[in-house]
Amino acid sequence: MSADWTGFAYLVAAVCFIMALRGLSSPTSARQGNVMGIIGMIIAVTTTLLDPEVISYEIIFAGILVGGTIGTLVAFRINMTALPQLVAAFHSLVGMAAVLVAVAAFYHPEAYGIGTFGNIGTASLIEMSIGAAVGAITFSGSVVAFAKLQGLVSGNPVVFPLQHPLNAVIGIAIVALTVALVFGQDPTSFWAIVILSFLIGFLIIIPIGGADMPVVVSMLNSYSGWAACGIGFTLTNTALIITGALVGSAGAILSYIMCKGMNRSIFNVLLGGFGGETVAAAQQAAGSRSVKQGSADDAAFIMSNANQVIVVPGYGMAVAQAQHALREMADLLKEKGVDVKYAIHPVAGRMPGHMNVLLAEASVPYDEVFELEEINHEFSTADVAFVIGANDVTNPLAKTDPSSPIYGMPILDVEKAGTTLFLKRSLGSGYAGVDNELFFRDKTMMLFGDAKKMAEEIVQALN
Ligand code: TAP
Repeated sequence: MSADWTGFAYLVAAVCFIMALRGLSSPTSARQGNVMGIIGMIIAVTTTLLDPEVISYEIIFAGILVGGTIGTLVAFRINMTALPQLVAAFHSLVGMAAVLVAVAAFYHPEAYGIGTFGNIGTASLIEMSIGAAVGAITFSGSVVAFAKLQGLVSGNPVVFPLQHPLNAVIGIAIVALTVALVFGQDPTSFWAIVILSFLIGFLIIIPIGGADMPVVVSMLNSYSGWAACGIGFTLTNTALIITGALVGSAGAILSYIMCKGMNRSIFNVLLGGFGGETVAAAQQAAGSRSVKQGSADDAAFIMSNANQVIVVPGYGMAVAQAQHALREMADLLKEKGVDVKYAIHPVAGRMPGHMNVLLAEASVPYDEVFELEEINHEFSTADVAFVIGANDVTNPLAKTDPSSPIYGMPILDVEKAGTTLFLKRSLGSGYAGVDNELFFRDKTMMLFGDAKKMAEEIVQALN
């Protein structure tokens, strides 16, 4: 394939990727978005394979076979709730790929047409250093994020004195070493950049609490995009440069959206120390206060006599995989003439779009699913708010207590409904570790139990 055709094909692939992102921004167009992404990827991979400079198809196909098999097996076996750590693990591979490409380019620059060993152009050396540094940070940061999310190490923030100044010194040292590499081209500077970047990737992620990991994973997603972009420059591959930049900016925007949904600044997340194990403390705070407790039969009775029920799903629904039972429950209520809607908080669950994906998986109609700002005003006229495995996203403390970690976060006004049903296992807190005053209100009824089991019992009672 001539260079012109290659460039054109990569451009078409890049346009497909942009359309894929566009499609993925709404549940209704997400399938088309995925198809566009697949088409773009087929064009990009085929174009690369047709490159006359390919030396060995055997090695490439062996790589595709091994990687593809591992990826397929992992994708089939992974639970929906374990997706964040899977994504973190995959990001680490992109980071490592960037480091390896930089190492290869440094020792064999002639293979990339960027000079000879010890005689590489300045621009290429800078690209290479940035690619290696971002890749190494992505690798070690993602490994720590994976270990925290998988529970291999404690999710608590690890903080120590002079942590941030130490990070700053390492950051400055990496920049100084890049300058030294440009002028001296010596392997010692190159390897020092790589090692210090691995170190700083580790150091910037350890102070971040396990609960903030979703934001971190999305940030690492962004880094992995920029790492791929760096590889694209080294390999002079426009498709990689464009896709890397797309992933890089999409990840950064996503991190921003998550922070906004939690009313936290990205610096507050990155400087760490938030989101440790405060659940026990919150449970203690609940102390001996009494709550109104109901059964599945009570819930079925209250909801079947309602005109409107608004369902508020949260992290607990995802953990329990209660979405199918929930949809069955809603179907039965609708048959009884009840108007059922779903209210989705922007940060419900543990990853962006978490609830939307689960509800779509259970074939909940899209036109029954509403964003916070679309539906919040309806709680005051709804008879029942059915909160299933959600907690923080309903906590009125976010409006009233400036000292609370969730202060300022917009919340779903479930307290305004005629009756608020909370389906969860205990009075325990959620992600932010804060007590929820709503459990103790007169209009609230607690349905204690596993979300799936209790939803199934409500279905039985409705039948
Ligand atoms: P949470 O506030 O975390 O509350 C989830 C509740 O689910 C818990 O209180 C827990 O109570 C209950 N639960 C757990 N397992 C359950 C099960 N098997 N059956 C029934 N209930 C179960 O969840 P939320 O309201 O969805 O809020 C999300 C939180 O995550 C927010 O604070 C948000 O800022 C944070 N966050 C979200 C994201 C994104 S992007 N979504 C990213 C980072 C952080 P019990 O233990 O009593 O059952």
